[in-house]
Amino acid sequence: MPSCVTWVKPPVESATFTSTHFPTGTMIHFDPTTNTFNLVLATSLYAFRADDEGRLLHMAWAPRPVGAPTDLVLGGPGFDSLPRADELPLTRRFELNTFCDSVQQEVALKVTFRDSPIPIRDVRLRYAGHEIVTDAQPGLAPTHGQPTAVSTPRETLRVRLADPAQPLEVTLCYRLTPEHDIIERWVEIANTGAQPIEVEALAFATLHFPNGTTELTSAAGWWTREFTATRERLPMGIRSIEQRSLQTGHYANPFFLLNRPGQAWEETGVVYFGALAYSGAWRIVFEQLFTLDVRCQVGYNPFDFGLTLMPGERHITPAVVIGVCAEGWGGASRRLHAFALERVLPRPADGPAFRPVLYNSWEATYFNLSLEGQIALARKAATIGVELFCVDDGWFGGRRHDRAGLGDWFVSPEVFPEGLEPLIAEVHRLGMQFGLWVEPEMVNPDSELYRAHPDWVLHFPGRPRTEWRFQLMLDFGRREVVEHIYGVLHSLLSRYAIDFLKWDMNRYATEPGSVVGRAIWQAHTAGVYEIMDRLRRAFPHLQIESCASGGGRIDLGILARTDQVWTSDNTDAYDRIRIQEGYSLAYPARAMMAWVTHAVNHQTGMTSPLSLRFDVAMRGSLGIGADLNQLDEAELAEYAQYIAFYKRIRPVVQGGRLYRLQRLEEYGASVIEYVSPDRREAVYSVAVMSYQQGWVRPPAPLCGLDPDAMYSVTDRRGVEVYRAAGLELMTAGIPGDAFGGAAYSRTLYLRQIREPD
Ligand code: GLA
Repeated sequence: MPSCVTWVKPPVESATFTSTHFPTGTMIHFDPTTNTFNLVLATSLYAFRADDEGRLLHMAWAPRPVGAPTDLVLGGPGFDSLPRADELPLTRRFELNTFCDSVQQEVALKVTFRDSPIPIRDVRLRYAGHEIVTDAQPGLAPTHGQPTAVSTPRETLRVRLADPAQPLEVTLCYRLTPEHDIIERWVEIANTGAQPIEVEALAFATLHFPNGTTELTSAAGWWTREFTATRERLPMGIRSIEQRSLQTGHYANPFFLLNRPGQAWEETGVVYFGALAYSGAWRIVFEQLFTLDVRCQVGYNPFDFGLTLMPGERHITPAVVIGVCAEGWGGASRRLHAFALERVLPRPADGPAFRPVLYNSWEATYFNLSLEGQIALARKAATIGVELFCVDDGWFGGRRHDRAGLGDWFVSPEVFPEGLEPLIAEVHRLGMQFGLWVEPEMVNPDSELYRAHPDWVLHFPGRPRTEWRFQLMLDFGRREVVEHIYGVLHSLLSRYAIDFLKWDMNRYATEPGSVVGRAIWQAHTAGVYEIMDRLRRAFPHLQIESCASGGGRIDLGILARTDQVWTSDNTDAYDRIRIQEGYSLAYPARAMMAWVTHAVNHQTGMTSPLSLRFDVAMRGSLGIGADLNQLDEAELAEYAQYIAFYKRIRPVVQGGRLYRLQRLEEYGASVIEYVSPDRREAVYSVAVMSYQQGWVRPPAPLCGLDPDAMYSVTDRRGVEVYRAAGLELMTAGIPGDAFGGAAYSRTLYLRQIREPD
């Protein structure tokens, strides 16, 4: 160790917990004799310790043997012994890797202190104390004040680290949701000196996985092809998934599942998982070392990153949500879903218990809007059972096409001469809620806003301003821009009785020039979150959908201030089977907006039957996007019957536990099941994407039911098609799908019944 780094062992704190069985209820344990921390969760544990020099070193993260005589990893010096001591700097498992812990590998933190003849980039963090608190919040936590479904306080362990030779303090935070085996990790970094500190890389956490944990499941894609699940072996060295963007992005989504190859499957095996609560430029970088250890730095994308910490300033990063379970990829997904449902999605006390059935008129009318046309659609939507009617793009300013008008958020007198009042009044009279599309971060050069404020867009002076879909991005680094956008949206919501906003975002950054410099990569997301939070606070009944050219902004950060997300502009039922399966790896069905659109799909030109379109869309939060004027009475009646059925199964779909019984990649068909938490109800859904002649598909055994209970299985008409005990359903499955051909699909509802004595 360099001589400048010394560590003074802090005094043993009095408020430490010593009981292995936690009579106080705490799940956080500190052993002052070995300086070992244990985070004990329902079925897993996480342990690390400060070594004799105060370095915070990772020890364990694994499912724990429940019922063992002790719940704790005791720690001890033996953990440092490796065959070759000179390799230690490369292999030591720091809880947060800093530049100069090792310069050969990826790091979580890199800073420059300029107040020395040779600017210092060497950071060594040493343990300086810790506390356990119940009210800690990560950076960019929602400020709208609305509760989540479960709001009981959670314990957070804050471990303070300091560089003994530099004015830098770093606090590692661990907030526990033990019932779901989840830890939220984030970092606080403070400049305690008199000179600015330049932060060049900052992750929210360093993660360590047991060696050989090299099978990565993640999602990649693009517009209309979001959430393509990929499964691969991590190479030796580096594999990163990332987005260099001002939104979460389509290329990749910020979550991962990781396991030892061949040792995990859908419902079995140890699987690690993680997901970011952040919608800006992010990176998750895995590194497989020569020891076969796997580590990961997860947080801000270091590409073009720059954060200057002024004297006395503190920066708090958003959180990464992590966990491990022994129930396979399905177990990991269910934990993430439960966490999002209970702890992330806002749930105002008097808000709807379930997501309403939505109608969106975009694919029916595109930019060809009129009061009469929208009212005609609204009347038909109401008759088939729609609960929320949303007008999409084209209602404002000069927006008669996509080349003009963005930025001018006032109702177009050309389209709605009497304002929106007559339409909203009619929608409300019909018993539906009213929703409106906005794209607040954007401006068309052909707009009043741009003509008034050409400097308000991201640009580098004197350099090109690249348009994408004829639009430029506003500079949310400018306070006046954030205030202006908040102001116009606030006026809109004050004037009109709007229940729902579809908040869109339809381009990537090209020239990220901002008045805040490189900080725009964070400032943009902070601005979006701030406006959404302030609007939710001002209008507590407002619901928001996150859309970014389809599924370009879906993550646990945006979900904390929205009610649902638009999964993809691709509404083709065949493609949706795959897109939704990828989405389901990390995110809950409740938030997944899924529309039934036209028989001949507008994006792909593929034809699919109504049954497949409904069976696929009913796996999430149901919406209708078809032109209802093209449907005859019989078809409208069929829509109505499906929607009524959906309302019956909706509590199970939107609040149940998901089991992927047969995955698309294995069978060319996707069979999924949602089970209500009390196991009294379930929904069984089959959708076949491709079918080879001669294929015989055995029934898929169900999961998660009560083996002793008897279940009645009914179709959408309420006709009982099967009746069996849970045990039989969980071993033999439901017969009848064996010879399903192309476009085959069905949705069944299972309900526990009492057999007559
Ligand atoms: C984006 C959205 C669509 C629709 C259009 C309107 O593409 O993803 O759903 O709202 O914009 O221009």
